[in-house]
Amino acid sequence: MVKRQDIQRVVVVGSGQMGPGIAYTLASVGCSVSIYARTPESVERGLQAYQAAVNLLVKSGCISAGAGSEAAARLSGTTELEDAVARADLVIESIAEDLKIKQELFARIEKACPSQTLLTSNTSGLPVTQLASVLRQPERFAVTHFWNPPHLMPLVEVVKGEKTAPLTIDTLVAVLQEAGKKPVVVLKDTPGQLGNRLFHALIREAIWIVQEGIAAVEDVDTAIKNGLGRRFPVYGALEHQDVAGLDTVLAIQSYMAKALCNETAAGRLLREKVAAGDLGVKSGRGFYDWSRRDIGAVIEKRDAFLVEMLKAETAAGQTRVLQSTDS
Ligand SMILES: NC(=O)c1ccc[n+]([C@@H]2O[C@H](COP(=O)([O-])OP(=O)(O)OC[C@H]3O[C@@H](n4cnc5c(N)ncnc54)[C@H](O)[C@@H]3O)[C@@H](O)[C@H]2O)c1
Repeated sequence: MVKRQDIQRVVVVGSGQMGPGIAYTLASVGCSVSIYARTPESVERGLQAYQAAVNLLVKSGCISAGAGSEAAARLSGTTELEDAVARADLVIESIAEDLKIKQELFARIEKACPSQTLLTSNTSGLPVTQLASVLRQPERFAVTHFWNPPHLMPLVEVVKGEKTAPLTIDTLVAVLQEAGKKPVVVLKDTPGQLGNRLFHALIREAIWIVQEGIAAVEDVDTAIKNGLGRRFPVYGALEHQDVAGLDTVLAIQSYMAKALCNETAAGRLLREKVAAGDLGVKSGRGFYDWSRRDIGAVIEKRDAFLVEMLKAETAAGQTRVLQSTDS
């Protein structure tokens, strides 16, 4: 099985929202990366999205122009899956979130790739062990769940399946750390992995608060952005408990646990909105009226913030981005 130093050639399968930024992450540590998609048009879209990610990093000063050119030179695109994976050290799948489709793809990849190639999926929550069940060598398989947008977000969850070898996890963590990511290892194959379990606990409570008339939608988000969100980049939830004092936390949790939303089904308000066709940005209305809001501007603001965070962390030596030979 390959170790970190053996990972030189990477194939990213899928050129949608996530594939190109994942491809950049691996190119940033010097790998040659090929994006596979089923049609030339999809390949082209992937290459363009990759270049747009590189341009953003160069324009914002996260990487030098030379580093941007090197990253661009390390990328290629293909519609030939078997050819692409035949010499790959690592294949990262990022296609539709469908167990059967992913399993079919991995069975096809395993037939064509070398026996030591590492295989990973970017699934948001499909069971790792089931994904790997179609493989002859499930020990080389894990989930690498990148957060969106993958070229700007540091978190990657590396999820272990029942048969994943420790070396597979170690190698993936090493390459991700080298790329400046902050990988976390999820030891149990459980729905929502780690990050989405935390996030959905928050979402469940946020929806409950609105549903119960405790606070308005905008105020829920204002509290998250300006309270919790301000702390979290430097100060984890459990760190905060230690600072507050666990006896105090116990006293608070003892009366609050029973007041929190404990529903085991999806929230009533959420179900009502979906039934009414209020799906969010894509239908024009969700918790907010998107006919009056500009989603492009919101995403631009988010990315500008993520870039500033990345720059600050790079300057403080807390992470690294692609180093060019000209820098
Ligand atoms: N979008 C996110 O925020 C996000 C975040 C983390 C993880 N993910 C996960 O990453 C994966 C990809 O998500 P996305 O948002 O990039 O999706 P997307 O729909 O933007 O892109 C998926 C691409 O896969 C292609 N595809 C579908 N079936 C295929 C097949 N059989 N062979 C080859 N290509 C195929 C589609 O044509 C499309 O180009 C999913 O598993 C998703 O759950 C998404």
